[in-house]
Amino acid sequence: MSRLQLVGLTKSFGTETVVREVDFSVEEGEFVVLLGPSGCGKTSTLRMIAGLESISSGELYFDGHLMNAEPPDRRNVGMVFQNYALYPHMTVFDNLAFGLRSRSSHHPRRERRGWVSKRVQDTAELLEISPLLTQRPRQLSGGQRQRVALGRALVRNPDVFLMDEPLSNLDANLRERMRMELAQLHQRHPVTTIYVTHDQGEALTLADRIVVMNNGSVCQMGSPTEIYERPANAFVANFVGMPGMNLWTLPWQRTNEGSYRASGVHLTGEIARVLDEIGTSITVGVRPEHLFASTGREAFGLTIDCKIELLERLGSHLVAHCSMGDARQSVAPSTLVARLDSESKLLRGDYIRLSAPLKRTHLFAAATGEAIDRHARIAVTA
Ligand SMILES: Nc1ncnc2c1ncn2[C@@H]1O[C@H](COP(=O)(O)OP(=O)(O)OP(=O)(O)O)[C@@H](O)[C@H]1O
Ligand SMILES: [Mg+2]
Repeated sequence: MSRLQLVGLTKSFGTETVVREVDFSVEEGEFVVLLGPSGCGKTSTLRMIAGLESISSGELYFDGHLMNAEPPDRRNVGMVFQNYALYPHMTVFDNLAFGLRSRSSHHPRRERRGWVSKRVQDTAELLEISPLLTQRPRQLSGGQRQRVALGRALVRNPDVFLMDEPLSNLDANLRERMRMELAQLHQRHPVTTIYVTHDQGEALTLADRIVVMNNGSVCQMGSPTEIYERPANAFVANFVGMPGMNLWTLPWQRTNEGSYRASGVHLTGEIARVLDEIGTSITVGVRPEHLFASTGREAFGLTIDCKIELLERLGSHLVAHCSMGDARQSVAPSTLVARLDSESKLLRGDYIRLSAPLKRTHLFAAATGEAIDRHARIAVTA
């Protein structure tokens, strides 16, 4: 039985539906990330799970028990918010102990103090904040405050840990360090977690599974590798990746040799056969890191002739922003981003040919954005 199960979970504010029929479940000890752009309904989903927001329709189960009507304090969740929400007038110890007040009521008064103290100290040790227990929040750095906020949620030994963009107030370096610390903490102490972020880097490094949301609905759910390698639609393809996938919806023209072209993009081989079969209302996608400079075109499914408009040198690699096609032609000019080897001797203004291997070329239906399973199609037609 899943620790947590959402069935058709829906939230409406007045006439506006902001979370629509969301279905997923989370297993014991799993780290699930809700990923999506601002306003897509991540926080609303989390707040329904915590009991801070009512559920408009659908069901929420913890260990198979229907939770829709249970108040927040009956759900045993620990929640960490973006702004930490620590009590400024209390020490770190008291901030942590506060969360235990309601928990410890079944202990006799004298034993209770010892129990609270032990729980707080164990949690402080886990998060390496023991030396800070006598300090007040204003005396702490951003990273230390964030650890106290994590501690306050963990000290209660929650069944489910809910985190809403907990790192977004930290500067870039600290954010990266805390991200690693969170990953390590979860390895040492695997509490079932739902973590909300719009940062796909965080999602890819932290998640066992990612739930990608857009406009209140789930677009795809899968492991980081699945989401990255087999995006279910063009939205996921472009949203996940640094930078996201290049996508071209172009008026593909068939050539005499049986390949297809538009705006400097050339599709051959298996990919051209798919267009033969299902028509040309196709969006072609390739990730910036899967493009490489090449001379021939026969061996690849996709080649592109383009001009480098801007080069960003980023140490280990370089990012080329290129224009494709020709404004004099009827086909609208397009752009692409390629992440290339920093060794390449490319210059701004150069004309280059880029290629991608067949298996790295993605196809989507232009009308719906849904991924076309090219391999399945080829197997069927072969
Ligand atoms: N209490 C509320 N009343 C009315 N509308 C709300 C309320 N809370 C959220 N919304 C709306 O619901 C939609 C989803 O909001 P939500 O906070 O869940 O998004 P989010 O994915 O967490 O975004 P962000 O990444 O910016 O935090 C938004 O359009 C928001 O304006
Ligand atoms: Mg939010």
